Amino acid sequence: MEKTKFLTSLVVLTLLLPYANATLSEPKAKKHFVLVHTAGHGGWSWYKIVALLRSSGHNVTALDLAASGINPKQTFQVPLFSDYLVPLMEFMASLPAHEKVVLVGHSYSGLAITKAMETFSAKISVAVFVTALMPGPKINVTTVYDELIRSVSIPDNSFRFDNGPTNPPTTFIPGPMYMATNMYQRSPFQDLTLAYTLVRPTHFYTVEDVSKEVVITNNRYGSVRRAFIVAVEDRLLTKEFQRLMIQKNPPDEVEEIQGSDTMMMMSKPQQLFFSLIRIANKYN
Ligand SMILES: *[C@@H]1O[C@H](CO)[C@@H](O)[C@H](O)[C@H]1NC(C)=O
Ligand SMILES: *[C@@H]1O[C@H](CO)[C@@H](O)[C@H](O)[C@H]1NC(C)=O
Repeated sequence: MEKTKFLTSLVVLTLLLPYANATLSEPKAKKHFVLVHTAGHGGWSWYKIVALLRSSGHNVTALDLAASGINPKQTFQVPLFSDYLVPLMEFMASLPAHEKVVLVGHSYSGLAITKAMETFSAKISVAVFVTALMPGPKINVTTVYDELIRSVSIPDNSFRFDNGPTNPPTTFIPGPMYMATNMYQRSPFQDLTLAYTLVRPTHFYTVEDVSKEVVITNNRYGSVRRAFIVAVEDRLLTKEFQRLMIQKNPPDEVEEIQGSDTMMMMSKPQQLFFSLIRIANKYN
């Protein structure tokens, strides 16, 4: 048992050797990280980060939003954006009042954590936007959501919509070519292969529905500390758009990860892990 523990520590140490100085000198306070996946994906997409955080003694919850990952709902059962967010909102509500979590949202789920920040501002020590949609008082939900829709609507059938090209779609899912060239292009081929078997359709929420659901106030959303981690090689939300959101809605902290595609947890897990620990320690 002790031997296994020792070996595990050894492996983790070796993995983190380049960051050892910074990581090991930090105080060892245990944190609770709540990780929210992007559209089509599930809690599974964080598996490398979950392993790294747990190995370092932190509590991690990588939840599945509705009709995602192994959540039993189907897209037709979750027609409203509020339905999609139920697992996150229920989880946040279940946390004891005195407990604060590090809330992390990836890409599309910037909208999900924004909603949680507004509703549960006192339960979040810091919110981390991992190359994520980050609406704010000067860049509204409509603007950021439209950018995402534009990005996935490139007319080469890169995303598959279920309702034909002319009718309003009810679901969308990234096509295999799009995933290979525009999402996982810097990630190990194994992770793309895993994603091919696990990605599910997402209900296509209307911009009206999403903007009604995600409301931002200075008192609540504005009271939560915020960090943004830029994925320099993101082809879904370009670095120019990430920087626009940062400029219009400046967070407390900005980090950049070179060589990261949009799937930062797949392409640059150690760098992302290190950033998360640093941010969590800073905004205690
Ligand atoms: C993680 O946090 C949750 C929520 O507070 C708690 O119920 C659970 O016991 C914690 N798990 C560990 C391993 O500390
Ligand atoms: C969102 O912002 C855009 C650009 O500033 C503006 O044209 C639009 O009316 C705004 N929408 C809402 C719902 O406030």
